[in-house]
Amino acid sequence: MAEDNKLLIVGATGFLGRTLCELAPNEWLRVAASRMGDGHRHIDLMDASSVTSAVMDERPRWVINTAAMTSVDGCERDPARAQAIHVDGTRHLVRACEMAGCGLITLSTNYVFDGEMGVYKETDEAHPPNVYGQSKLDGEAVVAQANCQGIVIRTAVLYGHRVGCRPNFVTWAMGALERGEPIRVVTDEWTNPTYVDDLALFILEMCDSDYRGLLHFGGRDFLTRFEMVERICAIMGYDPQLVTPTTSDAFGQPAKRPLRAGLDTGLAAGLSKIKPMGFDDSLLEIQKTYH
Ligand SMILES: NC(=O)c1ccc[n+]([C@@H]2O[C@H](COP(=O)([O-])OP(=O)(O)OC[C@H]3O[C@@H](n4cnc5c(N)ncnc54)[C@H](OP(=O)(O)O)[C@@H]3O)[C@@H](O)[C@H]2O)c1
Repeated sequence: MAEDNKLLIVGATGFLGRTLCELAPNEWLRVAASRMGDGHRHIDLMDASSVTSAVMDERPRWVINTAAMTSVDGCERDPARAQAIHVDGTRHLVRACEMAGCGLITLSTNYVFDGEMGVYKETDEAHPPNVYGQSKLDGEAVVAQANCQGIVIRTAVLYGHRVGCRPNFVTWAMGALERGEPIRVVTDEWTNPTYVDDLALFILEMCDSDYRGLLHFGGRDFLTRFEMVERICAIMGYDPQLVTPTTSDAFGQPAKRPLRAGLDTGLAAGLSKIKPMGFDDSLLEIQKTYH
């Protein structure tokens, strides 16, 4: 029998994983799982037996999978590893959840879309422009076939500040600008960036829901990466002259990025009380804890 108040959070050393561990209310018993152990349960998504034994031992109400190969260019260079983590790893989780009788919430991305069309709903057809997006989409298909309660949440450009995590786009820009280093930022990649605390609270809310299937969750404001940095300069007082506009083509990254891949979050909004923060307000929140 699954324990009704237990969450097994996979990828607990990552940005979203740490945020979930921190923000989950006390009525949930949190079990953190990560690849390296680190006082956590050991789960390597590439090792089916580690997944099965952790899920069967813990028998949580929900497994929340935040683990992924989040280097989009890394996935392009090593598609076999992307497949092993995002598709085979998801299959290991689904099988373990089916055996343990628990639900699975897992994360996906706006990069399943080619970005030709702008804002996408859950019902829009996905055309991934890169290996990362394709492998995440293939992982979604595994959850769609599961014989357990499965929720896939697509999100976009996570940002926020959490101690111990690698920089995200916003904290990377803040760090460089604070040190007075010039940065190049693309003007043509546009989406609704997502404040990680809002996403974590939304996921935790879904733990009380009987929803199954796909959901889009993103921020309230739609911005290019360049506009994000303009707002950062305006709010934090950094020198905007340090920021040089460029384009995705000129940037020359190995994996193609979708240019207009905003997420329509209407379906999630109808299920949830969480109102995503405006971008400027979230920067003010980050500023409170940044140093
Ligand atoms: N970050 C974004 O902008 C963004 C945008 C859209 C969607 N998403 C999705 O949101 C989710 C959370 O992203 P995030 O930014 O929190 O990611 P993150 O900070 O990069 O964390 C990913 C975690 O996955 C773990 N991991 C990698 N390979 C693993 C494996 N084989 N087995 C177990 N754990 C493994 C990493 O552990 P190690 O430290 O041991 O490597 C790390 O803790 C992911 O599904 C991502 O695809 C993120």
